[in-house]
Amino acid sequence: MANNTILKLPLISTFLTAKTALKSSVISLCHCTTTISVPQQQKQREPQIRSPQLVALEYADLSIPHIISEEGAVRVRQHVNPLSTKLSVPVDPPNWNDVFEDPKLPLVVDIGSGSGRFLMWLAKRNPGSKNYMGLEIREKLVTRAKTWAKELALSNIHFLFANASISFKQLLSTYPGPLMLVSISCPDPHFKKRHHKRRIVQKPLVEAIVDRLMPGGQVFIQSDVLEVAIDMRQYFDEESQKLIHVDKIDSNILCDDAGWLPRNPMGIRTEREIHAEYEGAKIYRRMYQKNS
Ligand SMILES: C[S@@+](CC[C@H](N)C(=O)[O-])C[C@H]1O[C@@H](n2cnc3c(N)ncnc32)[C@H](O)[C@@H]1O
Repeated sequence: MANNTILKLPLISTFLTAKTALKSSVISLCHCTTTISVPQQQKQREPQIRSPQLVALEYADLSIPHIISEEGAVRVRQHVNPLSTKLSVPVDPPNWNDVFEDPKLPLVVDIGSGSGRFLMWLAKRNPGSKNYMGLEIREKLVTRAKTWAKELALSNIHFLFANASISFKQLLSTYPGPLMLVSISCPDPHFKKRHHKRRIVQKPLVEAIVDRLMPGGQVFIQSDVLEVAIDMRQYFDEESQKLIHVDKIDSNILCDDAGWLPRNPMGIRTEREIHAEYEGAKIYRRMYQKNS
């Protein structure tokens, strides 16, 4: 911290471009401030916003100021091996009455929830109408997400340390309400062919999701890695007896020529999505709906 300058940056509810955000210290939309450290050498030039700061801006409504400070930082290993013995046992479902105020509400599950902010943002917007559950294989991220959810006093969200590939079916088997949406965003790519079996989206998980989805329930998948997006898409396209891509249901929804949705329909981008788009990457998205 010694070599850094602290900028007081307005946190605003709408997404702004980097330059606008940094020049906007008097923007009337601002309702709170947070501190962002800028390395000393950037002081001379016009400060360059970086993608973590864009994430902080996009999630400003959550108002967790320490989210970008040392306190919020968590060191995690790059990847966890989902095939390890330790992670190959399904976790027991929680007592749903303990984790949700109303466990009969329709449930949204985010698989590979990372920091959890994407889900917290949605949970904050939909109190009393939906429950949200994040499944994440990196325990430290789950611990931190739980802390933040508690600070936000959200009673419709729960994070679970689980290998989703192994635990999804058993976990969802006891949930008392309907499963309305499953999202899988930017899963770890595991590029090497011999590691493809570590990818989250595999046949058993896809079948478990499709079986458990309520009629009219949806699946949202996306990746900034085309190869991974195609791989996920093939699995879900194979379920065409039960799942229909949304552009076939609603003529207002348009895909590009290759069948990818141009925009994220969830109302907020995920963190990986923000980073990837900042780098200029295209995001490949699909959204399916289960037959009624
Ligand atoms: C690249 S990150 C993307 C995080 C978030 N979905 C986003 O779009 O910003 C992928 C996440 O999936 C988690 N993950 C990988 N394999 C998993 C598994 N089998 N079960 C649950 N989470 C998993 C990783 O730990 C990581 O947090």
